[in-house]
Amino acid sequence: MERPLLLMALFSLLVVGFGWNMGNPHNEGPSFRIDSENRQFLLDGKPFRYISGSIHYFRIPLTMWNDRLKKVRALGFNAIQFYIPWNLHEFQEGKFDFKGRAGELDFLHFVDLARQNGLWTLLRLGPYICGEWENGGLPYWLLRKGVQKQRSSDQIFKQSVANWFEALLQRVKPALRKNGGPILMLQIENEYGSYDACDRSYTTWLRDFVKERVGDDVVLYTTDGSAEDYLKCGAVPGVLPTVDFGTTSNNSNIDKYFEVQRKYAPYAPLVNSEFYPGWLLLWGAKSESLPTAKEIVFNAQYMYDIGANINFYMIHGGTNFGFWNGAEVQAPCLTSYDYGAPISEAGDVTPKYLEIRKWIKSLPDWPNKPLDVPENTPKAKYGRFELKKAKGVAGFADPSCVSSKIPLTHEEINQPLGYVIYRTKIEKCGELFIPKFADFAYVFVEEEYVGTLYRHYYEKNSTNITLTGCRPGMSALSIMVENQGRQTYETINDHKGILSEVFIDGQIKRDWTQCRVDLAPQNFYKYFQVLRDPSPNPPGDLKTRIGTFVGELVVSGKPRDTWIDTRGWGKGVVIVNSHNIGRYWATEGPQMTLYVPAEFLKYGPNLVVFVEVQGAHEACETGLCFSQSLDAPIFSFNSTLNV
Ligand SMILES: *[C@@H]1O[C@H](CO)[C@@H](O)[C@H](O)[C@H]1NC(C)=O
Ligand SMILES: *[C@@H]1O[C@H](CO)[C@@H](O)[C@H](O)[C@H]1NC(C)=O
Ligand SMILES: *[C@@H]1O[C@H](CO)[C@@H](O)[C@H](O)[C@H]1NC(C)=O
Ligand SMILES: *[C@@H]1O[C@H](CO)[C@@H](O)[C@H](O)[C@H]1NC(C)=O
Repeated sequence: MERPLLLMALFSLLVVGFGWNMGNPHNEGPSFRIDSENRQFLLDGKPFRYISGSIHYFRIPLTMWNDRLKKVRALGFNAIQFYIPWNLHEFQEGKFDFKGRAGELDFLHFVDLARQNGLWTLLRLGPYICGEWENGGLPYWLLRKGVQKQRSSDQIFKQSVANWFEALLQRVKPALRKNGGPILMLQIENEYGSYDACDRSYTTWLRDFVKERVGDDVVLYTTDGSAEDYLKCGAVPGVLPTVDFGTTSNNSNIDKYFEVQRKYAPYAPLVNSEFYPGWLLLWGAKSESLPTAKEIVFNAQYMYDIGANINFYMIHGGTNFGFWNGAEVQAPCLTSYDYGAPISEAGDVTPKYLEIRKWIKSLPDWPNKPLDVPENTPKAKYGRFELKKAKGVAGFADPSCVSSKIPLTHEEINQPLGYVIYRTKIEKCGELFIPKFADFAYVFVEEEYVGTLYRHYYEKNSTNITLTGCRPGMSALSIMVENQGRQTYETINDHKGILSEVFIDGQIKRDWTQCRVDLAPQNFYKYFQVLRDPSPNPPGDLKTRIGTFVGELVVSGKPRDTWIDTRGWGKGVVIVNSHNIGRYWATEGPQMTLYVPAEFLKYGPNLVVFVEVQGAHEACETGLCFSQSLDAPIFSFNSTLNV
């Protein structure tokens, strides 16, 4: 017993030298730390580095987790990196959910599947994550708790984070490497240096809070843009600073980027936490420009040669199902988070994937050899199907409406995501003016669509509209306000709904009723009734082509991945069985189809509901409304298209 131990100790001394975090050199058990002398990571006492990929469990259908992870491993990667979105796990304050309806929130299961596939985990805790995710991952309810400044030392913010992290870290701790698990290190915050608060007492508080729960010997890291300006406020003493950057035509830029990291961490391994093989897209994007496989490999090889650790963001993007997309200042992010990533939205191996795999295969000293390229899942097109219009504009209005003198925000009436209908009565039609609201407002008089208002859509505003269609006496004015997804930066203070007084002919309009539009799955069953209605599509009702449209997609045989075609429709969301498969906006593009994973379908008829808020024009041209199921996605960077 004595001799081997001594030999091992000598061996590890030779290999690792003495570093800050050496701990006990005799200990060859599970551990993960930094060897500062040799500027490298040590995993279980041995030199380690990673080529990893970002992949988000919350953007992948549950039954496909393993398929996607297998594809990451087959590239020759040895790790994954992912965020935890706080707002998914604490959707309502104080109610923590680490399971979900069917296990889709069980991120430790994802970690374990990764482990079974031979992949380590780098975990990004947040609380803020960005990630093009609704509100950057922060819960909407923070916006009605009186937080003065998010991501700062604000007491209310910190207390909310503390409650959440207490629950989260309790689960993370047993899965850390030192406890025998596959989680190597933990990221706190995200690109904090890009945020204007620059509140060091907040970031050091966060560091200490995490260290107190998981132990002082766990490697924490931050990620920031690769410029001094970012690390200045993003780096936290005692926490490994890492940088992020995409492709560059001149590899000497990479030296410059890493020089910034070196300056803040002279004794640390080099890490690019987000190397971008693709990029995100916004609604209304007219074009897309992505790095080529050649450019990616050119830079990756260089980073590899200088000994850096590389994480590809994203290796597989997936989908922003439901209302979970985030937004940038100018426009919201697409439902598809395909990202131009090496593994496509539907989990397919792309030419980029094959090039990266080939590159890794060519590295003589890389121990984690690529595996056989896994098969893509089969896709199907189920053809054209009719959709029948359900009655009313607001087929989904929740009966529990809230009345008030002045309009209330979505947050004030507890509407986390989606739509709110504001109702009032007016004596006569005039010019409606809403100085402040977010994001889009669809205006109706007597349930007839009048027009659409918007603010800050690519800096454009439309805040005034002349109302029409009033009748003698009082008329009903309804304004449906859509939350298109909260901004992921810069404010993180993105209140939704009507945010000011409303004016008609310059007069303040008071007395409002706010009704939440409830797209909870338990409400969908009633739309089956529309299908059984013997007199569907009353011509008058179809006129505005706004509202809920219900149809059946018939699946023959084993369900396969498919895409719902939204061309000819306007803007809204599509529900398939009990799944909100996300937003569409065919009049803006570029995304024209919505991905429906096989998991959401069943043999036989499947319920499909379009909630159309802008007007389904070409789709209803013949007096009947249609969509179709396709076996491949369609993106178009032209905004005018015909079915
Ligand atoms: C790359 O950048 C370096 C330093 O900025 C410069 O000296 C070199 O000429 C550049 N190389 C190419 C091929 O442009
Ligand atoms: C739209 O409104 C915002 C803020 O109210 C303003 O910053 C922007 O310049 C406006 N755009 C135009 C085109 O007037
Ligand atoms: C909208 O209406 C308000 C109040 O009637 C007026 O002050 C403003 O100039 C109008 N704006 C536009 C763009 O017409
Ligand atoms: C846009 O539409 C024009 C005319 O239909 C077509 O020639 C062009 O190829 C389209 N561009 C893209 C990116 O789809």
